[in-house]
Amino acid sequence: MTHPRAGRSRERVLTMRGIGKRFGAVKALTDVDFWVNEGEVVALVGDNGAGKSTLVKVLAGVHPPDAGTIEFDGEPVEIDSPADAQDLGIETIFQDLALCDNLDVVANLWLGRELRDGATLDEVDMEQRTWTLLRELSAKIPSVRVPVASLSGGQRQTVAIARSLIGEPRVVILDEPTAALGVAQTAEVLNLIERLRERGHGVILISHNMADVLAVADRVVVLRLGRNNGVYNVADVTSETLIAAITGAVDHTGARWTPPAPTPPSAPPPGRGRPAATPEPAPAEEAAADPASADGDTGGTVIRMPRTGSRRLPREDGPR
Ligand SMILES: Nc1ncnc2c1ncn2[C@@H]1O[C@H](COP(=O)(O)OP(=O)(O)OP(=O)(O)O)[C@@H](O)[C@H]1O
Ligand SMILES: [Mg+2]
Repeated sequence: MTHPRAGRSRERVLTMRGIGKRFGAVKALTDVDFWVNEGEVVALVGDNGAGKSTLVKVLAGVHPPDAGTIEFDGEPVEIDSPADAQDLGIETIFQDLALCDNLDVVANLWLGRELRDGATLDEVDMEQRTWTLLRELSAKIPSVRVPVASLSGGQRQTVAIARSLIGEPRVVILDEPTAALGVAQTAEVLNLIERLRERGHGVILISHNMADVLAVADRVVVLRLGRNNGVYNVADVTSETLIAAITGAVDHTGARWTPPAPTPPSAPPPGRGRPAATPEPAPAEEAAADPASADGDTGGTVIRMPRTGSRRLPREDGPR
């Protein structure tokens, strides 16, 4: 699969550091680090209950974190509600898609943001813009004037993704977008994710399907039992390695996952086949304490970042 990103510098959009979230006695997230650049697809993988949905719900403003910091475009932010997330430009497509089945494609896309011509709805403009967006996404929707109930699962996913793009978000989060789809429809949605990357959105893809992840992601973040358990460049990793990290057969939970500095605009763009981001030299004691560097047998190139005081922001550990 091609990654047509030549010439694009990839600015950091979002950085989460030390995120913690408890539900009563359940520690859903502990000290999780995560980042996404523009024009990058980051897969978030992990076993059931690993904390994937909780982490994206923190970004979506559904669950305020108990600990940690979030930076958006380099500025610290607090995301206390879904409206906060939307204002920042973070759109989440949850698995139920939340479409209105009885409304047509145009109405679904513009619901709550309808274009008006005086007192009446500007149906022509909305329809034209809908077609423009669908064409840009190379989406296969036969008509935009049919109720979405009559569309296939893949087409409904397409409508949900197109709707999320109306406000030109910086980050698009997809929770299991291919879980209920057949082979052809899955390919269609993966193609759509490539289009999102081309348009420069940062994409976070939650998936249990390693084939999908390897086909479309640039980077994979593994969560296990609510903690980071590895960050891998897709170019360097196999599904066996990912599964080992997901199941805990390899343990990187002691490692630090602070993001590397974003790619400067003048640097050559990253792409598939690139080497993994080069970690700064770790202090000797930290390299020894890092199980990944100790065993050296990860089967893939883990992006390991040493714990450095200067990169680490002060954290609040109490509830906000
Ligand atoms: N609203 C909630 N109230 C209480 N516990 C919760 C809540 N949401 C999640 N949890 C718990 O937090 C942990 C992480 O759940 P989460 O849904 O984030 O996992 P996940 O990685 O998305 O799993 P799956 O692959 O099954 O979707 C689980 O132990 C879950 O039971
Ligand atoms: Mg989930």
